[in-house]
Amino acid sequence: MRIKTILLGGIVSCCMCQPMAYATGIDIVPQPMEVTLGEGVFALPQKIGVAYSGKESIFLAKSASHYLEMSGQTSEVVRRGAVLTVELCPDFSEEEYTLKVTDAGIHIGASCDKGVFYAVQTLVQLMLSQKDRSLPLCNIVDRPRMGYRGLMLDVVRCYIPPQEIKRFIDVASRLKINNVHLHLTDDNGWRLEIKKYPKLTDVGAWRVYRPELFPGRLNQRDPQEATPVGGFYTQKQMRDIVRYAAERHINIVPEIEMPAHSAAAIASYPEFACTSNNRFVGVFPGIGGKDASIIMCAGNDDVYRFYEDVLDEVMEIFPSKMIHLGGDEADKRLWENCELCRKRLADEGLENFEELQGYFMDRINRYVRSKGRTAIGWDEVTYGDPKEDMVIMGWQGDGSVAVDDSRRSGRKFIMTPAQTTYLIRYQGPQWFEPWTYFGNNTISDIYGYDPVGEDWTGPLVENLLGVQGSLWSEFCDSAADMQYLVFPRLLAVADIGWRAKGTSDLQSFFRAVDNFTPVLDSLGVSHALSMWNIQHKVRPQGDGSVAVDLRCERPDAQILYSFADSTFSDKNIFDKEIILDRDTVLYASTFRDGMKMGKTLVLPLEFNKATGRKVEASARNGLGEVLINGVRGSRRNSDFEWAGWWNGEASFTVDLGSVQPIDSVSLGVLVNSDICIGASPALYLYVSDNGKSYRLAGECHVGKDIMWTHPAQVLDVDFGSLDTQGRYIRITAISPGAVPDGMAREGTPSWIYFDEISVR
Ligand code: ACM
Ligand code: ZN
Repeated sequence: MRIKTILLGGIVSCCMCQPMAYATGIDIVPQPMEVTLGEGVFALPQKIGVAYSGKESIFLAKSASHYLEMSGQTSEVVRRGAVLTVELCPDFSEEEYTLKVTDAGIHIGASCDKGVFYAVQTLVQLMLSQKDRSLPLCNIVDRPRMGYRGLMLDVVRCYIPPQEIKRFIDVASRLKINNVHLHLTDDNGWRLEIKKYPKLTDVGAWRVYRPELFPGRLNQRDPQEATPVGGFYTQKQMRDIVRYAAERHINIVPEIEMPAHSAAAIASYPEFACTSNNRFVGVFPGIGGKDASIIMCAGNDDVYRFYEDVLDEVMEIFPSKMIHLGGDEADKRLWENCELCRKRLADEGLENFEELQGYFMDRINRYVRSKGRTAIGWDEVTYGDPKEDMVIMGWQGDGSVAVDDSRRSGRKFIMTPAQTTYLIRYQGPQWFEPWTYFGNNTISDIYGYDPVGEDWTGPLVENLLGVQGSLWSEFCDSAADMQYLVFPRLLAVADIGWRAKGTSDLQSFFRAVDNFTPVLDSLGVSHALSMWNIQHKVRPQGDGSVAVDLRCERPDAQILYSFADSTFSDKNIFDKEIILDRDTVLYASTFRDGMKMGKTLVLPLEFNKATGRKVEASARNGLGEVLINGVRGSRRNSDFEWAGWWNGEASFTVDLGSVQPIDSVSLGVLVNSDICIGASPALYLYVSDNGKSYRLAGECHVGKDIMWTHPAQVLDVDFGSLDTQGRYIRITAISPGAVPDGMAREGTPSWIYFDEISVR
């Protein structure tokens, strides 16, 4: 057997001092740490006989056989004719294993069941990556880079039955994910039976039916309204899920939210609300207006007793060392006006209401610690500077709140940055995706993310416990919707939590994704193929033409295009920008080995006097050029086709290249109050021959009824019949101001979004 060793842990240089490629020759997820590849294969028989090396290894051999059976293989422990031998290696850490495949058979080394489980997952993936049940001859030495590799499922916004949680566990375990964090309580539901507080699930697990999109759903106003939507897990069901997960070496981290995101608990037990709350609190179907400030009273001792009682039952059900206490997005307005909260502030000598949250979290945390557990909190809990030790989950932006806190305090933390690992965000070119809000986190964005910063030094690196993909399910209505957002991106999360630093190989990773796809299919798991779709970018060239660029994140995708229809020929391979200067519909799709892989992009380009010319725009998102690129934006503000301005006036100037007759000007406007996008109430059109002196040529006013509509709507504002001429066109638009009272996110500064000025 010829041996080629690929060490994945450190920097390896050849004589030219170039870093060596990290191709291991095997394409599985997560990528093992060290692979030595031989030549040839070992053919696995239909039935995999397992033997043990020494009596002390018997229990591990039984486990190996059991885990093979769990993965759909036929196996038993045998005395003779074994192809797989298992050996106890007491010095290995619990997640460490070796897997050696030679002409003579397979050898697994591990110190415990968990290592054997991971070795078997590697073995099965290796087999699936080859043809005919063959395994490549190899020697794998493997252990994870990070101890915590997590998936969060928000089962509040979208309740899924127990068997669907188990299905997530099945797949996650095959990827060596070792924690599933269940977000069990929130404004929109309480999902866990608590025997001492039965109304939590009698009342709190159910909400009114509102088919609208999540943020725009109106909250329950009438206590008598029927509440047919929801569900909860009985303690028996949850213990069964916990056991099922443990059998797959997954720990379930339960999250009980406090003090905010607690409307479902307050709907069940209104006595836990602040004295300042004088509104009816139902279980929210969405978010909205003042209701978003609903919070548990921090001055009422019954509230602390409630959480202690709840956590007593939670800790009985979940053996998890870590218990998540939430702590995020706590609006303090009701505390500020509550006599009990104000008294607590004074009695405890606290300076402000942020410190009151610190007091609240500390008090519950102390209780959790007294039971021998460790509390986790979302990174906002650091604002109150917890006195007790706590693990921080870093989510805001790039996770820097948790990182900065750990630098200061030495607290341990887990990275789940919204900008990279929130699975609610779009996973591919947005025009093809089911509706959500926010921007993109593609599978290669996640794969390219290293949770350890370049400048991190020892203690910070040691305090990072791991990484998590977090699925918020506001835009999901079923388990299949949730699966679609999780897969295949969870493969990238699993990989970055396991593979050794500096060993990324995107091509190998994508092959591994392909190899794993039949597993998803066989388990009946819905998954996205978004990585095969095309992201277009169309840029004005200044001379009335535009350059079209087409990209696909799969390096092995060939892009074919057509101007006629969606039948593609090899003659039209996209390999450089296409320059266009007249109305066109461009069709494009991705192919591999002649097979169509992606959805067909249909890109209509429409030209007017401004298209392809020059624009100066102060857009905050830097996308001013899209105003004149011939492509209209969709209803998604983050589809890279909208120029956005935040919290103030919007303004841009287009240079038509020469003085032109101007009969009409119109402009596309996006409105969606759900995410703080308003329409400008007044837009002014100025025209100039020389770019210095401008004259007002038209104005346009938008009524209040239209300014804050939702969900998203695209309007065209028209400056009417103009009968003028000029070379430069400037539009200024005054800000719509803050989101009005009574709407989701009331009082928040707003955005203005424009796309495509049309000058005729
Ligand atoms: C969060 O996304 N509010 C933790
Ligand atoms: Zn209060």
